[in-house]
Amino acid sequence: MIGRFTELSLKYCKKILPITNANLNVLINFMPVSPKSGTQKIMQKNITDLRKEYSRATLDFSNVLKDPLKQFEKWFDEAVEAGITEPNAMHLATVNNEGKPSSRIVLLKGLDNNRFIFYTNYQSKKGRELEENPACALTFFWPEIERQIRIEGVAERVEGKLSDDYFQSRPRGSQIGAWASPQSTIIKDREILEERARQIEKKFELEKVLPRPNQWGGYQIDPLQIEFWQGRPSRLHDRIQFTKVDGEWKVNRLAP
Ligand SMILES: Cc1cc2nc3c(=O)[nH]c(=O)nc-3n(C[C@H](O)[C@H](O)[C@H](O)COP(=O)(O)O)c2cc1C
Repeated sequence: MIGRFTELSLKYCKKILPITNANLNVLINFMPVSPKSGTQKIMQKNITDLRKEYSRATLDFSNVLKDPLKQFEKWFDEAVEAGITEPNAMHLATVNNEGKPSSRIVLLKGLDNNRFIFYTNYQSKKGRELEENPACALTFFWPEIERQIRIEGVAERVEGKLSDDYFQSRPRGSQIGAWASPQSTIIKDREILEERARQIEKKFELEKVLPRPNQWGGYQIDPLQIEFWQGRPSRLHDRIQFTKVDGEWKVNRLAP
């Protein structure tokens, strides 16, 4: 038996989604319902039943490149070729000065001078945390090719000129968005954001080129450790880890 909220939601979802047995199961199992209904048990059961065997490729000292940055480029190209959606989406973990971690997805926008580059608002939560503590970690997960890459390193702001150039390459709408959004601050409603965007548009309506806001720009992450993970059968995955020691990359195999 499913609760009233669930029944209503199901009715609504049927209208907007083509109903197949598969997505009906997903809808029922993931709907927020009272713990008393017993549906939560079904959800937990289904999650524990989700498992996948990995068998597409192998990774070894014999087929990994000596330079982990070159290996990253190789795998990145293969992710692009495999048609992965947003292969440059990466998970960024930061830690504030009280040791409290936080994480989110950002987009890799370049690999310049062996540094991983992304752009953001310097006053955002991640921006503030990186100013307090530049140590951070990145993770890429490309499920279709059964690969994960983990990077640990130190972030610093890129030169203003690089941020300017990238800002100018963005569509005007994204530029307005960067000006309008006080990223990570609490806002009362969406209308405030849209009103700010309208004001910015008006302010710059005669300007062909929008200047980059001071609080917006890039970070580059200098990697100190890079690990390549290739899924293998029976959870005996391949993990090859590179660590920078005295400016040289040392390579090791890790247990899965
Ligand atoms: C696919 C995807 C790509 C994103 N790319 C960026 C990005 O490149 N830069 C950015 O500041 N936020 C990006 N975001 C939004 C962040 O995940 C996050 O919501 C935002 O930066 C605020 O994070 P913070 O409060 O921890 O600073 C992206 C989100 C998704 C889902």
